[in-house]
Amino acid sequence: MCAVKDPVVIHKGLDNVYVKESKICFIDGEASKLFYRGYSIEALASHSTFEETTYLLIYGSLPTRSQLEDFTKRISLYRSLETSLLQLIHSFPITSDPMDVLRTAVSALGLYDPQPASDRIEDRIDKALRIMAKAPTIVAAFDRLRNGREPMPPRTELSHAADFLQMLIGKTPGDYDAHIMDVAMILHAEHEMNASTFSCTVTASTLADMYSIITSGIGTLRGPLHGGANEAALKTVLDVGDPSKADEYVVRALAEKKRIMGFGHRVYKTWDPRYVILKKLGAELAAQKGETKLFETATAIEESALRHLAGSPIFPNVDSYSGIVFHTLGIPTDLFIPVFAMSRIAGWTAHAIEYLQANRLIRPKALYVGQKELPYVPIDSRQE
Ligand code: CMC
Repeated sequence: MCAVKDPVVIHKGLDNVYVKESKICFIDGEASKLFYRGYSIEALASHSTFEETTYLLIYGSLPTRSQLEDFTKRISLYRSLETSLLQLIHSFPITSDPMDVLRTAVSALGLYDPQPASDRIEDRIDKALRIMAKAPTIVAAFDRLRNGREPMPPRTELSHAADFLQMLIGKTPGDYDAHIMDVAMILHAEHEMNASTFSCTVTASTLADMYSIITSGIGTLRGPLHGGANEAALKTVLDVGDPSKADEYVVRALAEKKRIMGFGHRVYKTWDPRYVILKKLGAELAAQKGETKLFETATAIEESALRHLAGSPIFPNVDSYSGIVFHTLGIPTDLFIPVFAMSRIAGWTAHAIEYLQANRLIRPKALYVGQKELPYVPIDSRQE
């Protein structure tokens, strides 16, 4: 038996464990600040586009006009799906969860790549961009097929966000809806070393291909503790149904030790800056569509929760209004996590590429607390 030299510290949940140096994203959870590559999320939401933000995240600096034009064109041309992939999606049960469809289709995309495992950095980025470009096409195609409608082909002249709405809803979205979708995608594009980004980083560290890296991110994002809170927050607002019932709901939920969805965060101990932006967009969108009840109910829940949780570090997070924004844009609830994934592929790629440039296989340890040196018992001698 070897003696343990130092006491072993177990970092459950890897809280406060740093796995790399990074120049991609900085969160100041005490000061309500979020930066992508040094640019504030407020500046990006006001002035950038999803395409430009993706370029920034992956390549490290804002593109020039010609770089952005080339990049935007490249993504738009990558959006269409191979006929065989469309047939594959067609063959899925219509009852499938869209997140399972996205995970399976992204994994299958690797089968159509003649060199899926090429490990030149430029090739890796190109493969990731193809996956990112096709993800909205996959999600929209499945939604139409399950509703008995033909998939809409992508349109290269539309922005990535507008094209997703076009392929989903079947008509060109208005400029305002396209803008809101674009900003929502910027806000979901990156968020430092969260669970799905770590999952992608672990897979990258084994030198696996980009299809495996992004598929592992989608699988990790799928869980209710990570990507699923926006669905749950919207469900709460729909269930409460009216601003007048918000306080009663919050009081009961907290008395029963239930969590208010869209509240609390492992990193932010004050307002999530993405919440501030989404709430403003949600208010504008609701007023524009003349559908204000949902938004007012969410606001009543928020105000009540803030009153009852006063003194705790629990504040609204990105998910308190993202579901309402997506819902008002006409996106079905079970597409919220796929929409999150479609946006986050940008951040996953940036982190995987950054990690690979100074790669070290991620291989933590588990402290063994089981039995040792047991005599092997033949199967016939074991007690049923
Ligand atoms: N409502 C009521 N109480 C809460 C909430 C909430 N939303 N969140 C945390 N608490 C309480 C919790 O009950 C616990 O109380 P006590 O100490 O009395 O048992 C205390 O706060 C600490 O909870 P924790 O789980 O240790 O805190 P955490 O910082 O690890 O939790 C969280 C982060 C996001 C898992 C949690 O706040 C939560 O479950 N929120 C609801 C789900 C949600 O909105 N998730 C979306 C997160 S943002 C997504 C993203 O950035 O990608």
